[in-house]
Amino acid sequence: MATTAATILDIGSLPAVWLRDNCPCPQCRDPRSGQKLFQITDLPPDPVAAEVRESGSDVEIVWAPDGHRSVYARAWFDAPGEPDPRGEEGKSLWDAADLDALRFEFDWADYTSDPAPALSAVEGLGLALLRGVPRVEEQVLAVAETFGFVRETNYGRLFDVRVEDKPNNLAFTSVRITPHTDNPYRDPVPTLQLLHCLTNEAAGGDSGFVDGFRAAALLRDEQPDAYQVLVRTPVPFEFRDAHTQLRAHRPIIGADGGGRIREVRFNNRSMGTLRLPFTELTGFYAAYRAFAEVLARLELMRTMRLLPGDCVVFDNTRVLHARTAFDGAGARHLQGCYADLDGLSSTLGVLNRGTGAAL
Ligand code: OGA
Ligand code: ZN
Ligand code: ZN
Repeated sequence: MATTAATILDIGSLPAVWLRDNCPCPQCRDPRSGQKLFQITDLPPDPVAAEVRESGSDVEIVWAPDGHRSVYARAWFDAPGEPDPRGEEGKSLWDAADLDALRFEFDWADYTSDPAPALSAVEGLGLALLRGVPRVEEQVLAVAETFGFVRETNYGRLFDVRVEDKPNNLAFTSVRITPHTDNPYRDPVPTLQLLHCLTNEAAGGDSGFVDGFRAAALLRDEQPDAYQVLVRTPVPFEFRDAHTQLRAHRPIIGADGGGRIREVRFNNRSMGTLRLPFTELTGFYAAYRAFAEVLARLELMRTMRLLPGDCVVFDNTRVLHARTAFDGAGARHLQGCYADLDGLSSTLGVLNRGTGAAL
């Protein structure tokens, strides 16, 4: 039975070009890959749903002017939009007390039989702590390979965090390191970091983690002008040593077009010199200090001491990491590597297909 556009489903209220662009027919989408076979410029500029038929769970549209037929599943119209996987929407923001009530610690044996809970924690909370990971050199690479690809950088595929004679980075000394994200001078930045503790016998050297999204959201609530300054000011981050010269100009808080937080880049060690009109410099420094003060609030930092066999996996665009100074005479050795969140999310998405949680 042919009907007009305004029946059970109000097709007339939906943008025709959007419907036509989402036609699932085999001329429009390759049946094997599901990929689109046409360009937007191949579509008529003003498609019109000339006939609409509803039968069972399908809706059929015949288009004018070209007579193309599209058949949509009724359920497709009701599917919710999914949030940006990197954005604050859909994440659980935390302070230290919140994190204790949430599940972020996982036993390695449990992880290897079902990685999904820990991977969900990395997506939703920005970190997971794996305990009882084999204490062998290069194991951190094997951990990264359980969910994705290692991101090699100028520090190598893997880097050793221990006191070095001629360190090219303060991480490789025994000094205190305040909350920061790594590699802010890379664009794109590695979106995941792993640190695996092999030995931690030195006095000091405790770890701390801060949810940078929570801190940025607090700044947005409390000092919206400062938040806006940090969102709109590109900051030059730099790193150089004998073999490397890296530079990235990115804001400290990255937001999407709707003002939602999607990236935090904060590292006092590698911020270069801002060259801006003097009035803007003053405003930037006030905003930068305001954010640093929020990040330094004691209630935001979850402190912990990494034990041999602990491996922390965290979102390097969200969770800042820190360590207290330690006695350089004592033994402390972590191994780290970088990887990327999109690969982790892909692995999790595929795992969840099996449970029907995210088809
Ligand atoms: C690092 C770092 C922290 C630590 O290597 O990026 O910040 O606990 N290390 O030594
Ligand atoms: Zn089609
Ligand atoms: Zn670091």
